[in-house]
Amino acid sequence: MQFAVLLFLLALSRKIVSGSEWCYQSQVSCNSTCAGPDMWQDVSKLCNGSSQSPVNIMTRRMHQEEKSARFHLDGYQETFHGNLTNNGHTVQLDLPSSIMISGGHLAKNYKAIQLHLHWGKNGAHGSEHTIDGEQFPMEMHIVHIKEEYDSLSQAAKDHTGVAVLGFLFQESQSINKNYTSLVEVLPEIIKPSNSTMLKDVSLEMLIPPQKNLTKYFRYNGSLTTPDCAEAVVWTVFENTIPMSREQLTAFNQLKFSNGAPMVQTYRPVQPLNGRLVYYSKGDVPMVSWVLLIMSVLFASPLPQHSDG
Ligand SMILES: *[C@@H]1O[C@H](CO)[C@@H](O)[C@H](O)[C@H]1NC(C)=O
Ligand SMILES: *[C@@H]1O[C@H](CO)[C@@H](O)[C@H](O)[C@H]1NC(C)=O
Ligand SMILES: *[C@@H]1O[C@H](CO)[C@@H](O)[C@H](O)[C@H]1NC(C)=O
Ligand SMILES: *[C@@H]1O[C@H](CO)[C@@H](O)[C@H](O)[C@H]1NC(C)=O
Ligand SMILES: *[C@@H]1O[C@H](CO)[C@@H](O)[C@H](O)[C@H]1NC(C)=O
Ligand SMILES: *[C@@H]1O[C@H](CO)[C@@H](O)[C@H](O)[C@H]1NC(C)=O
Ligand SMILES: *[C@@H]1O[C@H](CO)[C@@H](O)[C@H](O)[C@H]1NC(C)=O
Ligand SMILES: [Zn+2]
Repeated sequence: MQFAVLLFLLALSRKIVSGSEWCYQSQVSCNSTCAGPDMWQDVSKLCNGSSQSPVNIMTRRMHQEEKSARFHLDGYQETFHGNLTNNGHTVQLDLPSSIMISGGHLAKNYKAIQLHLHWGKNGAHGSEHTIDGEQFPMEMHIVHIKEEYDSLSQAAKDHTGVAVLGFLFQESQSINKNYTSLVEVLPEIIKPSNSTMLKDVSLEMLIPPQKNLTKYFRYNGSLTTPDCAEAVVWTVFENTIPMSREQLTAFNQLKFSNGAPMVQTYRPVQPLNGRLVYYSKGDVPMVSWVLLIMSVLFASPLPQHSDG
């Protein structure tokens, strides 16, 4: 009888260790039974892979893309009503699959499925990617999958099945009015599995203007939550999204399933293991081309002077 109880307890503790429940470091405590980031490999072996995300982007070690390529963002300007959910790890907005991206050195067309955010505590240190060691207060991920797939799990089996656009946030003095409606409905989704309708939102509202999207970092990596599938073509834009400290802090009112404030929802940076990070500096602005042509036109008829 006692042996049976012992076996049962052993089985139970194995289940806990093998961790069906993953969580962020901020949820790990002596009395918590969830698996923090350094245990994720027990939740999914893929988390122990060699091409994991996020990473620290070192701007002195980047490789310049030879040719720049603009992103084509289709449907980013469309207004829609989206289901916003507290899924226990983050806040997620489901996106219409009519939203598509192409260009930007992507080999295929990808359609949007959802976006979500990663943030810190009291408006500080919350991004997943860091740049030269600097962690930003928040990071948004717009998740897209190749057009031919029906789900994220299907796309995750393809080495380049998923394309995530990452946007870093920076604290600003003034409120970012484009985020008012999202921040205002957070009180409706305090608890995990709560959801609400976010009305009249467009992706264009939530990201920097298109002219500011020409500079970005690119590398091959993984999903930053279990199962950590190495299926993501990452794009992290250099231009940041401004947000006030009050707005950033508003995300801390959300709660994890243990009732604790939802804070520091990021995975620590992972080793590059020899992967290259590319940098796309963007199109030469039209104006410079005009100036260049004009200077050539005006320069050429001039007689050779001193050096002739
Ligand atoms: C640990 O457990 C105690 C007692 O159940 C609880 O009061 C405390 O909030 C827990 N700590 C965390 C970080 O969840
Ligand atoms: C993780 O991977 C390393 C090397 O790739 C290996 O030595 C180690 O045993 C793996 N750990 C687990 C828990 O799978
Ligand atoms: C919103 O998403 C949640 C979680 O996926 C789901 O339970 C809920 O039914 C959805 N609501 C609507 C209106 O689609
Ligand atoms: C949020 O979820 C909790 C527990 O699951 C539930 O009791 C509550 O009614 C939900 N709130 C809303 C606004 O849906
Ligand atoms: C807010 O959205 C508008 C329209 O998309 C855009 O032009 C503007 O730059 C955005 N403001 C900020 C602070 O991002
Ligand atoms: C766009 O980029 C310019 C130049 O870097 C910057 O001054 C401006 O604030 C940016 N606009 C937005 C809305 O991010
Ligand atoms: C990502 O992987 C694909 C397929 O293996 C390869 O063609 C591409 O060059 C890689 N991209 C980067 C940025 O390393
Ligand atoms: Zn993410």
